[in-house]
Amino acid sequence: MTPVDDAVIVVDFGAQYSRLIARRVREAHVFSEIVPATITATELAERRPSGIILSGGPKSVYETPAPSLDPAVYDLGIPILGICYGAQLIAKQLGGTVAHTGKGEYGRTEMSIVSPSPLFADWPVDGEVWMSHGDAMTEPPPGFDVLAKSGGSPVAAFGDPDRRIFGVQFHPEVVHTARGSEFIARFAHDVCGCPATWTHVSIIESQVEAIRTQVGRDRVLCALSGGVDSAVAAALVHKAIGNQLTCVFVDTGLMRAGEAEQVEETFRRQFHIDLIHVKAADRFFEALAGVLDPEDKRKRIGELFIRIFEEVAAELGSGDAGPRFLVQGTLYPDVIESGTGDSASIKSHHNVGGLPDDLSFELVEPLRLLFKDEVRSIGEELGLPADIVWRHPFPGPGLAVRIIGEVTRERVEIVRAADTVVIEEIRKAGLYGELWQSFAVLPATRTVGVMGDGRTYAYPIVIRAVTSDDAMTADWARLPYDLVERIASRIIGEVEGVNRVALDVTSKPPGTIEWE
Ligand code: XMP
Repeated sequence: MTPVDDAVIVVDFGAQYSRLIARRVREAHVFSEIVPATITATELAERRPSGIILSGGPKSVYETPAPSLDPAVYDLGIPILGICYGAQLIAKQLGGTVAHTGKGEYGRTEMSIVSPSPLFADWPVDGEVWMSHGDAMTEPPPGFDVLAKSGGSPVAAFGDPDRRIFGVQFHPEVVHTARGSEFIARFAHDVCGCPATWTHVSIIESQVEAIRTQVGRDRVLCALSGGVDSAVAAALVHKAIGNQLTCVFVDTGLMRAGEAEQVEETFRRQFHIDLIHVKAADRFFEALAGVLDPEDKRKRIGELFIRIFEEVAAELGSGDAGPRFLVQGTLYPDVIESGTGDSASIKSHHNVGGLPDDLSFELVEPLRLLFKDEVRSIGEELGLPADIVWRHPFPGPGLAVRIIGEVTRERVEIVRAADTVVIEEIRKAGLYGELWQSFAVLPATRTVGVMGDGRTYAYPIVIRAVTSDDAMTADWARLPYDLVERIASRIIGEVEGVNRVALDVTSKPPGTIEWE
């Protein structure tokens, strides 16, 4: 992991919480990364963070096993903030009391400040915060002051300003704690002394430097998919090394409407990037003929994609003459999911077009430290069109995994046309930006209908629209019924081969966002 000065490290006791905390710290323009709870004090010290936040988590400190923290961390002299589980852990490890009081607090909770602290500067004495805990802290550790109380938490916040160690029972990272973001910003700026220097401009500058140092005068390849991650990665690398970069866009015939044209327009005409556009739809349809199994589809698409990519790379020369580096749009959530945060392994799912890492390239991953929203701001700053930057995510295997059954040209045309209607109407309703994804799915089975005077026997289309933060979980979007009706009647009226429209009302879990 690239070390960044003035960082606040989040120790992870529960993935969802730790991510949100890291995002809040970054929103305060301070770099934040997440490390597993098994990290030792020595390893933490080597990263030279300006502050440490211990996240909340689903366990009770009294469960066995419950995640703990190397106690030597408390002696590093680095400011520490414990949140919920993290606070209870500090209390337990430093000699305070955490008890099963039988008075858990869940949701909006009244909390009163009882002692002044830099963290609560400007807070009203009585205010509301968001809590979610069963056990409660009843005594702070020796030498610590009680800073706040609530009905179920005799110690809702505690701290020792000299040691710069604090704990809060409430969750400042969730939006329901009104002053939560400000609270985290105060910890980062005022307690840890971090300047607000993590901005998209500074990220671009430091990545441009890092890319130049990594690749020197060598040639670099980048597979473009039409999606935001590979587009931003390409634009960033291009800014760093100009015409040492060659982009490859493999048109699989399974893209959304207008995607290929948009890639051409943006990268060739606007950015003047050396772009190789491989029109390979025939090869993909041939590879998918007769294939019904979703994993088999993914595998075939991935393999063919790699074969084509290798062919292009071979044409560009080998050894010193050929490209040595490959750009990959890996994002921070993928890095965290890979475990330690140090691993270069990437879930094949998230690779552009499923490129394996045994291709003989060194990887350039300029987005490795970034969350999706940061990638989007960087894309805008680099001058990428809003259509690319704000486009909903799209799976590498494309429309093939949105046809449930065999992939044929006719079915791809149907699902693409239906998708266009879904997107157009959702945009018109002003909802596109609020949704994580919205699209059409074509279950390749036919149903009976009646249109005009005749009986029809045609495909259904399913509308899938979800809200989500990071695609790990998702909720089905409550689209207004009149919008659903407009989409349905337009699809049936305009897309030949469809006579029925259904709405998917499944969240994730238990469903996945895509149907295959
Ligand atoms: P699921 O369907 O697993 O999807 O809930 C989570 C997110 O990942 C996208 N997705 C893929 N992206 N290759 C990709 O690059 C894939 O094979 C793939 N399958 C799903 C999906 O669109 C959603 O955003």
